[in-house]
Amino acid sequence: MTLEVGRPLQGAPLGHERASLLDVKDLSVEFRLRKKVVHAVNGFSCSVSPGETLAILGESGSGKSVTAHAIMGTLNTTTAKVTGGEVWFEGRDLLRLPDRERRRVRGRKIAIIFQDSLSALNPLFTVANQIGEMFRFHDGMNKRAAERAAVDLMGRVGIPDARRRAGAYPHEFSGGMRQRIMIAMALALDPALLIADEPTTALDVTVQAQIMELLKDLQREMGMGLVLITHDLGVVADMADRIVVMYAGKAVEVSPVHDLYSSPGHPYTAGLLQSIPRLDSAEDELRPIGGAPPDMTRLATGCSFQPRCRWAQNICKGEPPPLRTVADGRRSACHFAEAVLHGDEAVLHGDQAVLVGDEASGDEHA
Ligand SMILES: Nc1ncnc2c1ncn2[C@@H]1O[C@H](COP(=O)(O)OP(=O)(O)O)[C@@H](O)[C@H]1O
Ligand code: SF4
Ligand SMILES: [Mg+2]
Repeated sequence: MTLEVGRPLQGAPLGHERASLLDVKDLSVEFRLRKKVVHAVNGFSCSVSPGETLAILGESGSGKSVTAHAIMGTLNTTTAKVTGGEVWFEGRDLLRLPDRERRRVRGRKIAIIFQDSLSALNPLFTVANQIGEMFRFHDGMNKRAAERAAVDLMGRVGIPDARRRAGAYPHEFSGGMRQRIMIAMALALDPALLIADEPTTALDVTVQAQIMELLKDLQREMGMGLVLITHDLGVVADMADRIVVMYAGKAVEVSPVHDLYSSPGHPYTAGLLQSIPRLDSAEDELRPIGGAPPDMTRLATGCSFQPRCRWAQNICKGEPPPLRTVADGRRSACHFAEAVLHGDEAVLHGDQAVLVGDEASGDEHA
C-alpha cells in the first residue's frame, strides 16, 4: 500500500522535465584515518537542470564541501575514499573517467568557488596573470591575449578600474573584490555548471548581498546551472529554484524553495526554519535545534536525525527512511513526512506500527 501523494518526476515543476545537467546518485565518501573512519557523505543524491539554481543547505559538518570535492574530483585521495555512487554530468559518470579527462571537465565544464578566496589565490602572481592562466591553460591563448581577456572579465564581475588594477596582487584587494576575482576565474571558460561553496561566508553582510546579486546576474546571463552550498537559510530564499537539505551526509528533503518555506516536509527542515528569528514576530531569540549534531564517526542506526527529532517513534530506529516523493516536486526522507508537511501532530502522541508511505517505493534520487 502506498499513501504517497503527488505525481512522479515528470510532473515536478522547475525544470525537471528537462534532462539533468548533473545527477549525483547515492554518493558516499569516507575519510579513513588512523584510529577512526569519518562517514562524511552517506548516500547523497541530487540533480541539477541546465540553468537551474540548486541550493544545498546543511549545518556545518553535514558533508557539503566533501560532496562538492567529490563532484569536482578534488578530494585528497590519501585519506578520502569515494565508497559508492555515481556522478553523471553531460552523459558521463565522472567517477569513472580517467584522470586526464576528469581534469578537462574540471575548469572547462564545471567550476567551483570557495569561501576562502585568499588561500585559493596565489599571492605571488598578479590577478590578471591568474585569471589569464585559465585562458592560457585551457584555450591555448598567448600571454597578451589572455591578459586582455582577463581584464574584460574583471570588468564583467564588477571590479572597478579593471585595466589599472590588473597588475595588482591578491592581498591588495578587499575580501569582496577577491571573491569577484575567484568568480572571474571560475567563469573564464563559460562553464555549464558552477558550484559555489559558501561563497560569501567570510564577507560582511553588505558585501555578501552584492556577491549574491552578481552570481545571480551572471548565472542568468550565462544560462549555467548553479549549485549554491550554504548553511544559511536566509541566503537561499532569493537565489535558489530548489533546495536540498542535507543532514549527516544525506539529502533529507528536496523541495522547490517556496514550498519548503511555507511547509517543511522533514522535521530537521522544520527545526531549521524555526531557528531563524522572524522579523514579524515579537520573539527575536534564535531557537536552535536541540541535541548535538551527529557524530560522523558513529552514526545512529535508523534515521540519523532520530536522536534530535521531536517526531521520532520506535520505527525510526529501524531501517533508515528512504528519500521518497511526498508531494508534487517534493521528496523527504522521513517516515512521517506527510504528517510533518501538513502539521498533523497527532502522530506525536502514539507510536506508529505502520509506515506512512511505502518503503518499497522509496526513490533515493533527488
Ligand atoms: N580532511 C578531512 N579529514 C577527516 N575528516 C574530514 C576531512 N574533511 C572533512 N571531514 C569531515 O567530514 C565531515 C563533512 O565535512 P564537510 O563536508 O567539510 O562539512 P560542511 O562543508 O557541510 O561543513 C565532517 O564531519 C568533517 O569533520
Ligand atoms: S524518520 Fe523519524 S526520526 Fe527521522 S526525521 Fe522522521 S520522524 Fe524524525
Ligand atoms: Mg563546508
